[in-house]
Amino acid sequence: MTRRLYHVTTFGCQMNEHDSERIKGMLESLGYAESESRADADLILFNTCSIREAADSRFIAHLGEARRLKREHPERVVGVGGCWAQSVKDEVFRRFPFVDVAFGPGQVHRLAEFLTSDSLGAQGFFEFEGFTGHLPAKRARHHQGWVQISVGCNSVCSYCIVPSTRGREVSRSPDELIAEVERLACDGVREVTLLGQNVNSYGRDLSRGSRLTFAELLERVDAIPGIERIRYTSPHPKDMREDVIRAHATLRALCEHIHLPLQSGSSAVLKRMRRTYGRERYLDRVALIREHVPDCALTTDIIVGFPGETDGDFEQTLAVAEEVGFDGAFTFVYSPRRGTEAATMPDQVPHELKVERMERLVEVVQRRARERAQRFVGRTIEVLVEGPSRTDPSRLRGRSRHNKVVNFDGLGEPGELVDVTISAATSQTLSGVASLAARAAR
Ligand code: SAH
Ligand code: SF4
Ligand code: F3S
Repeated sequence: MTRRLYHVTTFGCQMNEHDSERIKGMLESLGYAESESRADADLILFNTCSIREAADSRFIAHLGEARRLKREHPERVVGVGGCWAQSVKDEVFRRFPFVDVAFGPGQVHRLAEFLTSDSLGAQGFFEFEGFTGHLPAKRARHHQGWVQISVGCNSVCSYCIVPSTRGREVSRSPDELIAEVERLACDGVREVTLLGQNVNSYGRDLSRGSRLTFAELLERVDAIPGIERIRYTSPHPKDMREDVIRAHATLRALCEHIHLPLQSGSSAVLKRMRRTYGRERYLDRVALIREHVPDCALTTDIIVGFPGETDGDFEQTLAVAEEVGFDGAFTFVYSPRRGTEAATMPDQVPHELKVERMERLVEVVQRRARERAQRFVGRTIEVLVEGPSRTDPSRLRGRSRHNKVVNFDGLGEPGELVDVTISAATSQTLSGVASLAARAAR
């Protein structure tokens, strides 16, 4: 019998990438094989995101193709998992009757149960039951591993759908996490990214005896032989403490990069966003980072056009972007989400104004990122090789510890650390030449 084929399309954040690797690992352990194209697959899955309206519409366009493929071969199974599925629950079967199975981010393991049951009637699984971190994984990059340290979020940011799709925050036990990273290191992983919606609150829900703070967890991961780089996302400015910032200066593997979401530079807007920090607190975190790790790369997330955002509020966001000089920023136009507090706030900002503000912000962000990137020109930096460059396959592509994409001439296998001397820098990428000798593992 030929092996049954699956195809998974992933939308959204790293948490979804992590979950999709587990979905794939689980399917392979059930005897499925991955298909290059959706059209050849017996099982078509979508791991969805609902963070902004654009995420919903992108996914729904893809779903149209699945409907057509299912019509051609009705025995095909179509499954929808992730945050969008969780936010609409059983409604998915009413809106899209050709969908066979739907499941939320906490029920990935139930997919196996569904696929191995005798009667494949439409079924939905939406109660949080467990971490996906337990499941086998099929990693997209051999040398890079996602590690889920917690799921869910206890914050109540008024624009955000995540607390309702991922539920309350639950931390995984430190012993389990350390064992997982040790297994990854044995399997050739050199870089791990610790994932949580608010990594700084890691462990607060664990019992006193077994609890570690996030900084202590970083220390334990740093001590694991073979792990050369540690990243994490996302910290929350309200909970970002000096111990974690200091760890960037003292821990061998912890990278010189912090992604610290700003959201807005106006304290009044931050208050209505329910971020529970103000502009001063944010700038104070930045000052602390620069004091302990002067060369640290700083990136951020910014929302423009939050309800009630005035010209004055927006000018303050521009001023913070100018003052901090982020190494990069994800900028988003505010998008009202069903069931969130901000969606029904008065003074929604007109679309054209949002777009105009976005353009102005992007100009500042890119200019500052380009200026900041010039500090690497002339320096020789450590690059973790990922593969051929996307723009010029005769060159290689990798990432620096500062999380800059580096395109370079030279030799190196994926997963190898090489030294590259940087000769040019744009806001997004660095370019250079590798030293002849590959770096020995430290
Ligand atoms: N838990 C993380 C990130 C979650 S979502 C954190 O708090 O930092 C990633 C980013 O999407 C957020 O930082 C925010 O900038 C953006 N985002 C979330 N909801 C949004 C919305 N309704 N409209 C526009 N951007 C949004
Ligand atoms: Fe959403 Fe705020 Fe939680 Fe981040 S911290 S996931 S923005 S509610
Ligand atoms: Fe991530 Fe999107 Fe869910 S950003 S947590 S997949 S809503």
